[in-house]
Amino acid sequence: MTMRPTGNMPETAPTQSGDAVEIADGVHWIGALDSALRSFDMILRTANGTTYNAYAVRGAHGVAVIDTVKAEFSGDFFRRLESIADYDEIRFIVLNHLEPDHTGALPELMRRAPNARLIISKRAPAMLKALLKPPGDDNFDYDVADTGDEISLGDRTLGFLHTPFLHWPDTQCSYLVEEQILFSGDVFGCHYCDDRLFNDRVGDFRFSFDYYYAHIMRPFKPHVLDALKLIEPLPLKLIAPTHGPILRDRPRRYVARYRELSTSGDCFEPGAEHRSLIVFYLSAYGSTARMAEAVCAGAESVPGVRVSLYDLEGGEIDPFVDLIEAADALAFGSPTVNGDAVKPVWDLLSSLAVVSLRGKIGAAFGSFGWSGEAVPMIEDRMRGLKMRVPVPGLRVKLIPTDDELAQARDFGSRLALAMTGGGHSPDARGGDAARGERVIDFADLK
Ligand SMILES: Cc1cc2nc3c(=O)[nH]c(=O)nc-3n(C[C@H](O)[C@H](O)[C@H](O)COP(=O)(O)O)c2cc1C
Ligand SMILES: [Fe+2]
Ligand SMILES: [Fe+2]
Repeated sequence: MTMRPTGNMPETAPTQSGDAVEIADGVHWIGALDSALRSFDMILRTANGTTYNAYAVRGAHGVAVIDTVKAEFSGDFFRRLESIADYDEIRFIVLNHLEPDHTGALPELMRRAPNARLIISKRAPAMLKALLKPPGDDNFDYDVADTGDEISLGDRTLGFLHTPFLHWPDTQCSYLVEEQILFSGDVFGCHYCDDRLFNDRVGDFRFSFDYYYAHIMRPFKPHVLDALKLIEPLPLKLIAPTHGPILRDRPRRYVARYRELSTSGDCFEPGAEHRSLIVFYLSAYGSTARMAEAVCAGAESVPGVRVSLYDLEGGEIDPFVDLIEAADALAFGSPTVNGDAVKPVWDLLSSLAVVSLRGKIGAAFGSFGWSGEAVPMIEDRMRGLKMRVPVPGLRVKLIPTDDELAQARDFGSRLALAMTGGGHSPDARGGDAARGERVIDFADLK
């Protein structure tokens, strides 16, 4: 994560050094503005920075703090918190998501508010330990929340929605029943820094909203749909996410947009009932190109498989990422150049972190001169991305003969059979599996 010092930026925003901002009766924004940030988590560009939104809810029996901020911004957070509450009034600290951009001020807040009870999602305890690294055994206490659980501030109730994998396993949302406010964590958030704070007052942030979804939530579409089932029935006056504008003007539009973004692609085109194979290739002298055509011809001979062929030299990567998400199988053809596959193949393969590849079938083929590393290297990468590689790669030395082109056709038809369940890979399931849960190895946190 890179960050330019905020000191380089003109001090224009009144909220930058100001007080808490009331977003509803007795509910305050106590977050921080990071207008100088230009890239977030290494993968997101942030053209006008971001915000770390934290909130405080006051009830008859005390105060609940919901999320904190990135450590560098703790000063802003505590100043705003102190402007509306005393530390000994804080009854609850609710963490909807443990990523450091929201838990940076947590250890200090726990020290300053000793009466507060920590509430985290039921998937979060192992992660909390890894985050706080308490010396010795559990010397801190917390409660875990699940969907339907509630805490009370006397006249005000905070309910919880278990929404795992949006975008970490630990994520949850909380809901202030009496005010109909959803504290949604990163869900419905975006990296957009504007001290006017509210969606009806800030600049046009639609691009930022969709961009955030595309990079952060998109790999978890099935989980987004599960979460929407919990969120959509709620009466909603306001959505208070942890990044970007507070959504008080027609908040439901943003919920609808999430549904739209999570379901587009399901109604994919004519031929949606077919299994879809995409063949990508590059070729300097035409040998790998001829193999690619033969692979396609072989695959097309299998009923129920729709085949698309693309020369990576002629395409932008972004639209391919959409195609890949909808596909059941991918085949990459690359010649070996200097002991490697060619760069556009790696560029494409490294752009796929935003889609779920689990269960998709992968295959590789290509022409080579003497050492032929490209094919096995692509296969290894596909396995690393949790794809299945049921048909061993096909390599042809220099210019393919008729016999070798027949082998390429056979390779294509075996690939297609693996996709339809007719090949020697009886567990081939294609698209359904491909839309399953993204694999993230959190074993080291257990
Ligand atoms: C710059 C260059 C580097 C190459 N390096 C390798 C190599 O490291 N190993 C190998 O097996 N073939 C190598 N080759 C040979 C190509 O893989 C071979 O010419 C292949 O048939 C090209 O396929 P295409 O017609 O699909 O481009 C190299 C070719 C070029 C032009
Ligand atoms: Fe996050
Ligand atoms: Fe975040």
